[in-house]
Amino acid sequence: MTIRASRRRTVAVVLAGGTGQRIGLAIPKQLLKIAGKSILEHTLHIFENAPDIDDVVVLMAPDHVADAERIVAKAGLGKVSQVLPGGSTRSETTNIAIAAVADRLDGDEDCNLLFHDAVRPLLSQRVVKECVQALERHRAVDVAIPSSDTVIVTRTHGDDGEFITEVPDRDRLRRGQTPQGFRLSTIRRAYELAAADPLFRATDDCSVVVKYLPDVPVHVVMGDEYNMKVTQPVDVFIADKLFQLASTTAPAHSSDAFYRERLAGRTLMVFGGSYGIGAGIARMAEEYGARVYALSRSATGTHVENPDEVEAAFARAYAETGRIDYVVNTAGVLRIGRLDETDTAAIHEALRINYLAPVNIARNAYKFLAETEGQLLLFTSGSYTRGRAEYSLYSSTKAAVVNLTQALSEEWTEDDIRVNCMNPERTATPMRTKAFGQEPGDSLLSSDEVARSSLDVLLSGMSGQVIDVRRQGAASAPDSAFETALSQVLDDSGNQPA
Ligand code: CTP
Repeated sequence: MTIRASRRRTVAVVLAGGTGQRIGLAIPKQLLKIAGKSILEHTLHIFENAPDIDDVVVLMAPDHVADAERIVAKAGLGKVSQVLPGGSTRSETTNIAIAAVADRLDGDEDCNLLFHDAVRPLLSQRVVKECVQALERHRAVDVAIPSSDTVIVTRTHGDDGEFITEVPDRDRLRRGQTPQGFRLSTIRRAYELAAADPLFRATDDCSVVVKYLPDVPVHVVMGDEYNMKVTQPVDVFIADKLFQLASTTAPAHSSDAFYRERLAGRTLMVFGGSYGIGAGIARMAEEYGARVYALSRSATGTHVENPDEVEAAFARAYAETGRIDYVVNTAGVLRIGRLDETDTAAIHEALRINYLAPVNIARNAYKFLAETEGQLLLFTSGSYTRGRAEYSLYSSTKAAVVNLTQALSEEWTEDDIRVNCMNPERTATPMRTKAFGQEPGDSLLSSDEVARSSLDVLLSGMSGQVIDVRRQGAASAPDSAFETALSQVLDDSGNQPA
């Protein structure tokens, strides 16, 4: 593929040439699965979804090039133009990438390169964007964060062990992350000069520019704490927890024409479809031409917790329309109160409706959704991230629904069935009014807003995601996938963010 010259293109180079000795697994750590996908695939999706990235080149550990190619093909990562074997050191891998990209350019054409460690799968879109923007003005860009720890320099004295020789001023210390961005011409020149130095040794690419091209200023973009490098065994655990808590913002609303094109002639079942968010989804999908089955105790005599009634509802929808494309469950009960004051009937009701029902619906939905490569959409609540006093049954069953979503999304990948979970903030629904009475309207999300976002998710390619829906323009709208979880922790502990 030849790189076109119309504007300076940006190529993301994903460095996955290492073997991960420090983690000590039988496979390179970038192939380790976290949250249903390999670390490498998580990282590649970030660049696939970054509007400023034109092209992605993967440098893979030589024995695993075929694994990387399989990941790229299976995930449909269209921006990946090459998968090449890496070198024996990180710098060697970088050098191979520079040569490969340079080969594809015409004459003295230049482009931007963003080198990123494959083992940093939590990079934010904000950082990618700021790096590309910075490359409009600078020839070299690093990403770093302040050091919370004091850093010491030591020297080993024989058998006596290590001693401090220097304590640099912490205010000026930064911890380097990736991406590191360069004009191709700049990083290529730096590596040419390094090649002539027999003592050359580097663990990153900015240091090569700093050392061999001292006149080139290296601009620093603020990184973030989540952009961790999976290096030690404990990092796998931390990354897994972060993925578990990360949520996704709902996709942008589509045009009426798009909803119509994608919903007309499709069959959608909504359990809990006679009021609140479920009724909104049913009404909108019907307006766009879907065959809708809005199921509930009152309207159709369907008790979501009753396996026979759920099975009958599926059988009927399939018999009448010949297909089932989308299955949504919004049914839920919210009763607050101390567990020791809750009677057995209420406990069983919460477990049956909030947990057994989604399990039951999912189990019945499987064979139909496998035929249409459809989607199952469940509902959770912000309280799933942490149990709270007086919400024991509600928040623990909602946590179970998130876990169920992740498990099924993985289990059904081969069938191309998508499974997601909506996480609306406080929404004006009859269930909420019953639990909390009337609340000021402007403090609540409208159920139609959540319904429309649910349609957006149904029509998207996402799977295994918890999707946050927040009020438009809400002051606390998060700009990172973790801020919802963070604000939840702060709320629960009675603290407020600074
Ligand atoms: N890397 C590379 N080519 C190498 C060595 C490392 O592309 N020859 C990549 C790794 O795959 C990783 C990034 O550089 O994405 C950061 O390196 P590091 O975490 O040190 O990875 P490993 O070398 O795999 O780990 P270890 O040092 O524990 O062996």
